[in-house]
Amino acid sequence: MNQAEWWKTGVVYQVYVRSFADGNGDGTGDIAGLRSRLPYLKALGVDALWMNPWYDSPLRDGGYDVADYRKIDERFGTTAEVEELITEAHSLGMKLIADLVPNHTSTDHAWFQEALASPPGSPARDRYVFKEGKGESGELPPTNWTAVFGGPAWEPVGDGTWYLHIFDVSQPDLNWENEEVRAEFDSVFRFWLDRGIDGFRIDVAHGMVKDQAFPDVERAAVLLESDLAEDHPFWDREGIHEINRRFRSVLDEYDGRMMVAEAWVAPDRLPLYLRPDEYHQSFNFDLLGTEWNAGEFNSVIATAVEAAEKIGASSTWVLSNHDVMRHPTRYGLDAGINWRTWPLDGPTDALDVARGNRRARAACMITMSLPGSTYVYQGEELGLPEVWDLPVEVLDDPTWVRSDKQMKGRDGCRVPLPWEPDGPSFGFGSGNAWLPQPDVFGPLSAAVQTEDAASMLSLYRAAIFARREHFVHDQSFAPIDMGTDVVAYTRGDVLVVVNMGEAPIEMPDGEVILCSTDDVSAGLPIDSAVWVHRAR
Ligand code: GLC
Repeated sequence: MNQAEWWKTGVVYQVYVRSFADGNGDGTGDIAGLRSRLPYLKALGVDALWMNPWYDSPLRDGGYDVADYRKIDERFGTTAEVEELITEAHSLGMKLIADLVPNHTSTDHAWFQEALASPPGSPARDRYVFKEGKGESGELPPTNWTAVFGGPAWEPVGDGTWYLHIFDVSQPDLNWENEEVRAEFDSVFRFWLDRGIDGFRIDVAHGMVKDQAFPDVERAAVLLESDLAEDHPFWDREGIHEINRRFRSVLDEYDGRMMVAEAWVAPDRLPLYLRPDEYHQSFNFDLLGTEWNAGEFNSVIATAVEAAEKIGASSTWVLSNHDVMRHPTRYGLDAGINWRTWPLDGPTDALDVARGNRRARAACMITMSLPGSTYVYQGEELGLPEVWDLPVEVLDDPTWVRSDKQMKGRDGCRVPLPWEPDGPSFGFGSGNAWLPQPDVFGPLSAAVQTEDAASMLSLYRAAIFARREHFVHDQSFAPIDMGTDVVAYTRGDVLVVVNMGEAPIEMPDGEVILCSTDDVSAGLPIDSAVWVHRAR
């Protein structure tokens, strides 16, 4: 791998710090816990870690509500510990990517508190998006915009003005028309780059610029779905690119750093974010919404690979993250079930756990063998299911309340990891974890799976090491038509075959490098994948 462009082919492991490992026994994951588990990550073979926000925060949106961008939240640790983490990760050959949230702060941020204490029209208010309300005394919101988590996107502050929050009411949007806001982020970037951070994942990278005419919209904002509407007043506006270039110019003051965009935009707009003076990379979230169906997979893969080739970028693959239902559960649900709403009302018999696991094993072999880079969400290597049946009393995600209790939200994919088969929190920490873990986490713990050659963890390790040997040096990709039920392609002299149909298919010729199942006596079973060295 070209070290300077490690992110083009790397396996990036996403650490949801709060739920990864608890070093001090308070039930919340922290940097001490993460440091103690670095050898595990090294053994897994990943190239880089991306840490979800760890800054000072009231955690009303899991840390995406930042109160101080230069301070680590006390529950997670200290800046000095982050510096040690960076040194240790680097000495193990792993890069570190921090999450940065420029679209909004927390209402606890000093700037927002100052804005509230200052009169309308003051410079302190101008750092956020305050507008006068409609109606005789400003009693109506300035526009009909809705928040991504549900409810109106405006909150009144009692003086006839309202502030904008595209997300939770505790997340006021910054005003990116204001030069002071831009300069502040230059400085925050440098603060972490100076401490050795290798890159940033930029949150809501398509949301910072708002239409200054503040028109009403026809469609409500939807949580984490590409908003393809043209000329939307707060998604994907042209002015974003100027901000992207500014971020990039700060990054380019340093060697070998990268930034990856969380941009939910139309496929034909995404390349604009990846121009040479903008982002290095962008998440491709298409697989999050792709059903287990060869036609759909083939088309998503072809589109992404072609788009990346055309602009000289690298594609990225994501099966799960902290915002969506974990994929073994998604793949275990009957076709056509809406996984966002299913955890509330069921039907529970629509879930086939064994089917979901088989497919998750095969999916790992797809994303690990495609060109570009792959993001692994913590616990995915253990095959953790979505904890969809969390009791509603423990739900923490603002989605639950803001959706009027219509959607349980994202806690089910954020349940703390099991490291040991037993103990109060399965080795996550010395006490109970901040969200309850189900019994099934015991046998799925890292310690148990490390000893089992047939486990999901062993498959991930084998796939990551084989990937490095076979798929990194040569990025060529050629799809192969093996019928409507099969995903097949070659990567150099390796053939990848995935059976998404309803009956076994013939095993391809050649020496098997890796197979997602050990029973191929009747051919390659349904929901299975194999990598073979092509016969010469
Ligand atoms: C991103 C994050 C999500 C967060 C939202 C608001 O979509 O991935 O977790 O809630 O931004 O910051």
